[in-house]
Amino acid sequence: MIVNVENLVKRYKDNIALEHFNMNVLEGEILGLLGPNGSGKTTAINCILGLLNYDKGIINVFGEELKSTSYELKRRIGIVPQDIAVFYNLKVWENIDYFCGLYIDDNSLRKKYVEEAIEFVGLEGHRDKKSQELSGGLRRRLNIACGIAHKPELIFLDEPTVAVDAQSRNFILDGIKKLSENGATIVYTTHYLEEAEELCDRIVIMDNGRDLVTGTLDELKNMIATTEKIVVEFINPVGDTKKKLESIEYVREVQNIGENGKFILKFERGHNNLSVLLDFIKEENLVYETLYSETPSLNDVFLELTGKELRD
Ligand SMILES: Nc1ncnc2c1ncn2[C@@H]1O[C@H](COP(=O)(O)OP(=O)(O)O)[C@@H](O)[C@H]1O
Ligand SMILES: [Mg+2]
Repeated sequence: MIVNVENLVKRYKDNIALEHFNMNVLEGEILGLLGPNGSGKTTAINCILGLLNYDKGIINVFGEELKSTSYELKRRIGIVPQDIAVFYNLKVWENIDYFCGLYIDDNSLRKKYVEEAIEFVGLEGHRDKKSQELSGGLRRRLNIACGIAHKPELIFLDEPTVAVDAQSRNFILDGIKKLSENGATIVYTTHYLEEAEELCDRIVIMDNGRDLVTGTLDELKNMIATTEKIVVEFINPVGDTKKKLESIEYVREVQNIGENGKFILKFERGHNNLSVLLDFIKEENLVYETLYSETPSLNDVFLELTGKELRD
């Protein structure tokens, strides 16, 4: 285990930001910390990194507690903070060189690492620009380069795609996959479900300072009772179609989408729901245009656990 957090409690005066929060990070994985704004992601990361004091709990990184003087440990860790932390008056390469220089003393090695980081985030055409001249998306990429140039084994990225354009977002997500393929262990916080689904090997779902559930995408989806979602669009719906659909065995919920004949049915898992539905349609002489089965999304998992949507 690369990181272990047990029963972490953090209060900001009367506000409890973390309430017995637990998390562990396994070697080589991309762990996603997924939760709405204010759920405690940044607080958790900053406690782990020793940047914040906490009230209770155990935190180990590479088997040790991280202190402000743990220089050897810090060299092995990369931090990409949520709030962009670069020097606006320094050039792109100078910024990266500064942060890399905190860990890498050897001049020629540092030079090499700086150029590799510039290439990694695709800022070759901007290396001599001051960071204040960069667009938001490019500045995000610089922020990432500063955190990873020294080739850390463990990398924390705190919401690195917020407020960036689609192109930079894809660039960033691909870059993180590459870091992972190169062997780094990654902790990635986000409030975007789609990113967690796309990127992460395991996901910790957070809400109100707690870890609600932890697992792979499949494990999380299997935790909720409703797993099978069938979408059907009828050409000839009648007034009581919804009621009738609700009477089908193992149906937990039927939603009628809009004014038309489109319905979403949520079935209990583990039954031949699709064939039962097809039989029903035949019996009722209904005609459908589209019909497909969907596995639940992370949003369904979040909804079932918290009763609210995790969407922007
Ligand atoms: N410096 C601070 N002082 C007081 N409250 C804070 C501070 N930083 C965060 N909080 C509160 O702690 C909770 C968790 O915040 P944060 O860790 O930033 O969540 P997230 O990163 O998931 O958006 C929120 O209620 C937030 O308002
Ligand atoms: Mg945050």
